[in-house]
Amino acid sequence: MIPSRVRLVEVGPRDGLQNEAGRVAAADKIELVQRLQAAGCREIEVTSFVSPKWVPQMADNAEVMAGLSRQAGVRYSVLTPNLKGLEAALATRPDEVVVFAAASEAFSRRNINCSIAESIERFAPVVQAAHAAGVKVRCAISCALGCPYQGEVGADAVEQVVRQMAAIGVDHCGIADTIGVGTPRRAQAAMERALKHYPVDEVSGHFHDTYGQALANILACLELGVSTFDSSVAGLGGCPYAKGATGNVASEDLVFMLHGMGIETGIDLDALVDAGAFISARLGREPVSRAAKALLARRAARREAAP
Ligand code: HMG
Ligand code: MG
Repeated sequence: MIPSRVRLVEVGPRDGLQNEAGRVAAADKIELVQRLQAAGCREIEVTSFVSPKWVPQMADNAEVMAGLSRQAGVRYSVLTPNLKGLEAALATRPDEVVVFAAASEAFSRRNINCSIAESIERFAPVVQAAHAAGVKVRCAISCALGCPYQGEVGADAVEQVVRQMAAIGVDHCGIADTIGVGTPRRAQAAMERALKHYPVDEVSGHFHDTYGQALANILACLELGVSTFDSSVAGLGGCPYAKGATGNVASEDLVFMLHGMGIETGIDLDALVDAGAFISARLGREPVSRAAKALLARRAARREAAP
């Protein structure tokens, strides 16, 4: 059942950097994307077309998209919460857009300022317009395993949103553990609900690593045959509307695990570590990724040992 190849959706430039308090230069964001694609990343979530009042860090969305040297075979995606965001996004030629709802009412209000039902109504024309422009639509269902405001979230609540996403024509369904509280059996239970409405190639997991459960949750989903996962280089990020939540599973940790299991990713781990070290240096901190830290320490030790 475990897939022999896994597709990583690199969300560091968006999910990672959206949470930074200090300004990150558009040029650094662009360089990060260039380094990620050079490392073999084939799906990159670049930015979001949300309100700059809500998430100031993503205000340079169009500039970043315009600055990319695109590589054939790479899919560049962006977040679009409404038609206004979609219109601005389409002008920058994304390959895919992402609508994001929540499985918890409280989080929906805090994150996108509307109820779950209103958000689905808002997304329906976004999906139609994206399809009319030939652009694929993915969704993220936040708080699928727990909510910072409401507490536990059950699989029924997740399935209700999955069903609505399928009904409005969303092509791909992402199950997101926004605050990283999920554990493997619960991750499987939520994913199984997505699999009732989407083929296995069109579901993915987005696991924040706040409680150190992300890799275990991914392994549990691999056991269901799921082969697409979001990850964030250097473990960057969090969500501005989920205080205390840390970044997604670090891409370097995930690639290390998958390669160790003999699963192909198409990613060059050393080059990925370099991309993570680059952006971490720009942010003035160490990468959060354990694998990256270990590999960087090994490199440093080899340099010291060299004559
Ligand atoms: P609102 O205030 O309810 O929107 O925000 P509105 O329609 O009433 O408009 C208010 C103002 O915002 C107007 O401007 C609009 O033009 C402007 P004003 O007249 O006041 O000058 N506006 C926009 N500007 C730029 N781009 C837009 C846009 N839409 C309206 N697209 C809205 C509603 C959804 C816009 C707001 O709540 C918002 O931007 N939220 C974004 C929150 C966000 O980005 N969260 C982080 C991403 S989600 C995430 O991280 C989770 C994920 O990783 C999965 C997981 O881990 O769970 C995906
Ligand atoms: Mg996230």
